Amino acid sequence: MTLTIPFRPSAPGPTAPDPTAPGSTAPSPATLARGEVRLDGVTKVFGRGASATTVLADVDLRVAPGEFLAVVGPSGCGKSTMLSLVAGLDRPTSGTVGTGGKTAFMFQDATLLPWLTAAQNVALALRLRGVPRGERGDLTRSLLERVRLGSHADRRPHELSGGMRQRVALARVLAQDAPVVLMDEPLGALDAMTRDRMHDEIERVWAEAGLTVLFVTHNVREAVRLGDRVVLMGSSPGRIVTSRPIELPRPRRLDSAGVAELAAELTAELREEGARRGG
Ligand SMILES: Nc1ncnc2c1ncn2[C@@H]1O[C@H](COP(=O)(O)OP(=O)(O)OP(=O)(O)O)[C@@H](O)[C@H]1O
Ligand SMILES: [Mg+2]
Repeated sequence: MTLTIPFRPSAPGPTAPDPTAPGSTAPSPATLARGEVRLDGVTKVFGRGASATTVLADVDLRVAPGEFLAVVGPSGCGKSTMLSLVAGLDRPTSGTVGTGGKTAFMFQDATLLPWLTAAQNVALALRLRGVPRGERGDLTRSLLERVRLGSHADRRPHELSGGMRQRVALARVLAQDAPVVLMDEPLGALDAMTRDRMHDEIERVWAEAGLTVLFVTHNVREAVRLGDRVVLMGSSPGRIVTSRPIELPRPRRLDSAGVAELAAELTAELREEGARRGG
């Protein structure tokens, strides 16, 4: 995904209701706890008339505050569309979407401003959040330390490895102080070892900050490694096929027998679903 801005500012949450628009009435803020995410009967149709395509059909999903939800599904099944709806960047055609508090986004591309240092990229997020100038320096330093990048604060993105750039993106997510974090294949471009290390980082930051995470990936093992729960999506139209709690103790290893076994089961389920749909 190409962005012309360094990151998308958090959508105000809960998603602002517009009584004149179909399918946009968010649950009342009083009904959602901070960090909670809720989709009720969400359908998303792109296009009109003969060219109308139903991308998501009747999606019901509840994510508890502090839960790490991993979402897996075939390409084009509507995973990114679902995250955009949760972020309030788009509205459902019918149904409701609500979040208890703001959302922050992390993509496959770290989308850092190339002319700013790591510290300046994080400080920009603080400025956009309205943190006074005098407090930004200390906060930026502590955020970069939280992602173990304190010694690289003055490097510009081209002087950082892919993994380091994603750590800056993670620090920038934390700078937004949003209880709900949406991660759209954030590690898809990294090599296996860096990816493995980033799993540890993301898990640590998630646990320390008590975040609710919706993590989209194509990698079923990664989903089992990270998720409190894995949701499998099917396509044409995109919908939730299975929701499986992952009860393996943490920390988990990507190459452990338990993770491999569960991942194999879920992969078989995805294949069956694809075969049923002729995919
Ligand atoms: N703004 C849009 N207008 C029209 N169609 C769209 C729009 N955004 C997405 N789509 C279509 O919706 C479907 C789902 O797209 P989406 O990007 O949500 O899939 P995805 O599951 O994230 O796929 P991938 O795993 O490849 O990232 C695709 O067929 C896509 O072409
Ligand atoms: Mg996508």
